Amino acid sequence: MNTQVEQPRRGPSLTLLHSIPMFAGVPDSQLEQIAKVAFHRRVPRLTTIVRAGDSTDSLYVLISGGAKVLNSDEEGREVILTLLGPGEFFGEMGLIDGSPRSADVVATETCELLVITKNDFKRCLAENFDLCLNIMKSLVQRLREADRNIESLALLDVYGRVAKLLIDFSEDERGQRVIRRRLTKQDIAKMIGASREMVSRVMKDLENRGYFRVEEGRIVIIEKRLAASPAPVPASRPQST
Ligand code: CMP
Repeated sequence: MNTQVEQPRRGPSLTLLHSIPMFAGVPDSQLEQIAKVAFHRRVPRLTTIVRAGDSTDSLYVLISGGAKVLNSDEEGREVILTLLGPGEFFGEMGLIDGSPRSADVVATETCELLVITKNDFKRCLAENFDLCLNIMKSLVQRLREADRNIESLALLDVYGRVAKLLIDFSEDERGQRVIRRRLTKQDIAKMIGASREMVSRVMKDLENRGYFRVEEGRIVIIEKRLAASPAPVPASRPQST
């Protein structure tokens, strides 16, 4: 895995900070302070930006590109906890409770990052209630997602889990649900706790039955049918995992 990073350069603009959800409602006077202490960093695809078990030194905001949050065991088996996209932040957990990093965060494409060191981040938090509130809201949202994932792992079979994941990753595009993000079968398998072969079979079956179609590299969901899929899909489903 690539661990090389470019030299950091200082200074995000206020316009850029305004576009990041974490800084919503933060007054310009505070954003100017943040602009003075945050710096840009660009990392190539497959860079491990944060490594599980490391001590914590910085908070990261993803300006462009994508990253996956994952845990792995000694045998190299991986579970992907979530995929992160532009505007999202990571590395806050270790800064808040002082524990080592809880997971690896790996760039899935070239990433432009904004980095704020631990001390600067803590100073910003102490001085700004809106920033604290925005971070709390994100943590609550992540907890809700984790709860939903536990629920689907416990209650849904692989058909249901694939269907739910496709719906969760889809966005509205002129009235259609579309997945624009590149989503490999391997990544889906690592997110829902199934084998890649099983995910391939289930997706082929769902596509053949018209639950979604692949169009110019994007997945277009036939929403009403897919949302109902855990029950009415095939009479003979492949056996799970
Ligand atoms: P930290 O523990 O410092 O380093 C790993 C980071 O991965 C962690 O902070 C969070 O920012 C992020 N992370 C861990 N688990 C999740 C999750 N379930 N959803 C989103 N992000 C996560």
